[in-house]
Amino acid sequence: MKEVARQARAGGRIVGLVPTMGALHAGHTSLIVRAKRECSPVIASIFVNPKQFGPNEDFAKYPRTFESDCEKLKQAGVDALFAPEAAEVYPKSFSTYVHVEGLSERLEGRSRPGHFRGVTTVVMKLLQIVQPHRAYFGRKDAQQARLISQMARDLNLDSEIVVCPIVREPDGLALSSRNLYLNPEERKAATVLYQSLELAKKELEAGERDALHLQSGVRRKLASERLAVVDYVEIVNAEDFEPVARVSKAGYVLLAVFIGKTRLIDNLYLEPGSPGSDELAFHL
Ligand code: PAF
Repeated sequence: MKEVARQARAGGRIVGLVPTMGALHAGHTSLIVRAKRECSPVIASIFVNPKQFGPNEDFAKYPRTFESDCEKLKQAGVDALFAPEAAEVYPKSFSTYVHVEGLSERLEGRSRPGHFRGVTTVVMKLLQIVQPHRAYFGRKDAQQARLISQMARDLNLDSEIVVCPIVREPDGLALSSRNLYLNPEERKAATVLYQSLELAKKELEAGERDALHLQSGVRRKLASERLAVVDYVEIVNAEDFEPVARVSKAGYVLLAVFIGKTRLIDNLYLEPGSPGSDELAFHL
């Protein structure tokens, strides 16, 4: 992979990387489409990274659909695929980790200890191996995207981190490889995440800025679904993901909710308006 990427860069071309764990869906395809608009060649990676799963998490059962993933990548026009084995990525002597302090401990990090250390370590390795000009990540994993941007900034990486919008099913459910775990009843129930965020969006659009009020509305909606068990509902600023009391600048309404045994995350992005103005746009 290093050799392929080196040759691509030597030709003066703009190399794009789309890192994935496979089980590809239209969310991944949207990253590839964006990468292809901005880069050539576009390299994708598929690696179910054991280091980002906790001991009681779903590493063993994480969906692995390599053949159909390859077909989707081909159709999307990806130029090269990097799909290493775990033993290549983490040989026995492996002992160096990347940890972004503070941000890694909050929210997802609190619920999934060690998760972000695994993510930043593997993404750092992928960025080192491919050395892309641009690397593409989805905003559904908003905290992950923020951490990776922070790591790239702190460690003076040359790759630009590009964060792309969430892609949703027609009923609003954010696309995720973990949606495959849901049975038909749970799949129906899972739309409550989107519905609760839609409620918050409507209130924000009507001028509501009190975080507690907005959170209560979201929690009430989630509580109306029998199969939903809330892990967290938080309204945070977009910089360090600390909770805010009032919505006044860029941030997120973040959710983590169990539907049955499946843990899903979703968010509403509060995008800053033009510099110097207090305006916000609300993106689901
Ligand atoms: O978002 C994912 O699929 C993974 O966390 C990533 C970024 C590919 C790292 O394993």
